[in-house]
Amino acid sequence: TQFTSDRLLLFGATGDLSRRMLLPSLCALDAEGLLDPRIEIVGTARSDLDDAAFRNFARESLEQFLPAGRRGGMATFLNRLRYQPLDATNVDSFQALADKVGTPEEGLSIFLSTAPSLFEPTIHGLEKSGLSGPRVRIGLEKPLGVDLASSKVINDAVANAFPEERIYRIDHYLGKETVQNLLALRFANLMFEPLWNAAHIDHVQITVAETVGLESRVAYYDDSGALRDMVQNHMLQLLALVAMEPPVSYDATSVRNEKVKVLHSLRKVNVDQTVVGQYRAGAIDGQAVPGYDEELGKASDTETFVAIKAFIDNWRWQGVPFYLRTGKRLPRRTTEIVVQFRDVPHAIFHGRGAKTVPNRLVIGIQPEENITLSLMAKVPGLDRDGYGLRSVPLAITTPDAFADRQRRIAYERLLLDLIEGDQTLFVRRDEVEAQWQWIDAIRAGWEEQQREPRTYTAGSWGPSAAIALAERDGVTWHE
Ligand code: BG6
Repeated sequence: TQFTSDRLLLFGATGDLSRRMLLPSLCALDAEGLLDPRIEIVGTARSDLDDAAFRNFARESLEQFLPAGRRGGMATFLNRLRYQPLDATNVDSFQALADKVGTPEEGLSIFLSTAPSLFEPTIHGLEKSGLSGPRVRIGLEKPLGVDLASSKVINDAVANAFPEERIYRIDHYLGKETVQNLLALRFANLMFEPLWNAAHIDHVQITVAETVGLESRVAYYDDSGALRDMVQNHMLQLLALVAMEPPVSYDATSVRNEKVKVLHSLRKVNVDQTVVGQYRAGAIDGQAVPGYDEELGKASDTETFVAIKAFIDNWRWQGVPFYLRTGKRLPRRTTEIVVQFRDVPHAIFHGRGAKTVPNRLVIGIQPEENITLSLMAKVPGLDRDGYGLRSVPLAITTPDAFADRQRRIAYERLLLDLIEGDQTLFVRRDEVEAQWQWIDAIRAGWEEQQREPRTYTAGSWGPSAAIALAERDGVTWHE
């Protein structure tokens, strides 16, 4: 159903995600005239606020998290906000919420981020209070379960009230500009696709490194761990976008059909192809930081680092390893994809003492958005004693090329698509389930072999076993 929402209902409106991402994104969109001018936004959460108090909360959030240059429309935006407290365990509480939302002229979008235990009562409450009709779509923020079984329970509950075409499962990595640019790189250029396969690509690396530790999400994170927090969702989505076949067109069905095929082709991972770690006290950027157990206040066997050597069993990728690693308290914040090509088939320069370095494509997602291709070039000179070759980086997309373009929060794209009804950058149920299935098998292997995380010093690149995982194959992690 095609409609633009003129009402938006934000669950978890006083939470961290709302403060840092959602309210700033909405305000920025509004300032640029990208939201429907009729839009009214109702926030809801447990806290007992009124409209004025919520607007104050929003103003403070915007001042803290939205650059001053993007706050132009703040007064208008704040005026669009209203608030209704909610006890999600009490069905009657939803009637007051529905009254506050009122009747949209065209349609309603709901952004739901809630504790897993409140999912079912919330969906039930929405249904009972008429907040689930044909002109309502729902965005779902993670965590959507902790394994395949629990994700099915949540998905079933949502499916009782909303058809899949109106369910928008959020993976905020899909809202990131460079992640979308990956599709432009692959499918708007002729030169990569013919080489994009096992015949020409040696391996792929995907790194999501963070410098932060536990932050304020102690209970959630300790129950989850790096595999479920980062690999199940963000990293598998990146992998699917790198590996998928060309979709027929850039639309929700075509793109998601191709991604899910990759996810179904993931080979079951052996435990010895994985490394798990947990950080101990160390230093990042010269600053001392405590160990995970100290932050948590108790011993725990939750992994804060994971590295996996994965394979995709299809024609295109047979035998090509995909090395994945992610962790907290690593030396730098960086998310990148490295596509390592094979060496040239015949070395004509060897006789002159020059070696070629295989081409490598590095797609930097954050903190900088840039794509660099390393090419071999001749070192200028007369070269009487040999032939000088050097690998030089060719910047394909630099931030400067689009210096006049606004850098955006990933949620700007996603909220806009939710409001306007474009599912391309949202995750379909079969994708999520394929993701969980692969992850569950890894966890089962860990449990079977009673795999405990190895320790690593905060500020290092994880346990040395993670380096060995790649080095065994003659591969060095890109840094
Ligand atoms: C979230 C995880 O999904 O992604 C966090 O729960 C993580 O643990 C965050 O810090 C990373 O997102 P980004 O956009 O900062 O890379």
